[in-house]
Amino acid sequence: MTKEVIEASFEAVAEAAGDPVLLIYHKLFELHPEMEPLFILDNDCAARGNMLAEFLDCLLDLAGERKYAAAHLQTLRINHDELGVPVEVFPIFFSIVRDTFRSVLGAEWSPLFESAWDALGQDFATVLELETV
Ligand code: HEM
Repeated sequence: MTKEVIEASFEAVAEAAGDPVLLIYHKLFELHPEMEPLFILDNDCAARGNMLAEFLDCLLDLAGERKYAAAHLQTLRINHDELGVPVEVFPIFFSIVRDTFRSVLGAEWSPLFESAWDALGQDFATVLELETV
């Protein structure tokens, strides 16, 4: 059930705004300008696009079958640490994606979306052994 709701929120965002990648990173750098230089080599936004796509795939897996998200997030935790991105900032990315989706959808953001994203945020923090998002 949660997976379907999360998926429906992705689809609603795609319909309303197309690919949200630019909106999300604009928000990330607005709130956390110190993160922008980390992406200096990503001239064509490809890494940003891949990062977001993998993040959204992980969320769907986490909300549904849970085949790989926990293990994959542990790997990403290690290679991000090597990039100078501690796991503690992962929840920031989660919140920015959720808040961007919420603001893109406006009145279309339903209480069902809110509660599914809330539960997903708890699960995301739990698999990363963090307090909360
Ligand atoms: C605020 C939190 C995060 C920051 C600051 C961050 C930062 C970065 C940086 C600097 C890169 C390398 C970009 C480059 O090669 O130029 C990267 C790559 C990547 N990140 Fe993140 N990351 C964050 C959260 C996450 C999360 C939660 C995921 C979960 C799926 C993730 C998945 C990836 C993946 C898959 C790549 C490789 C993309 C590619 O090279 O094609 N990141 N991230």
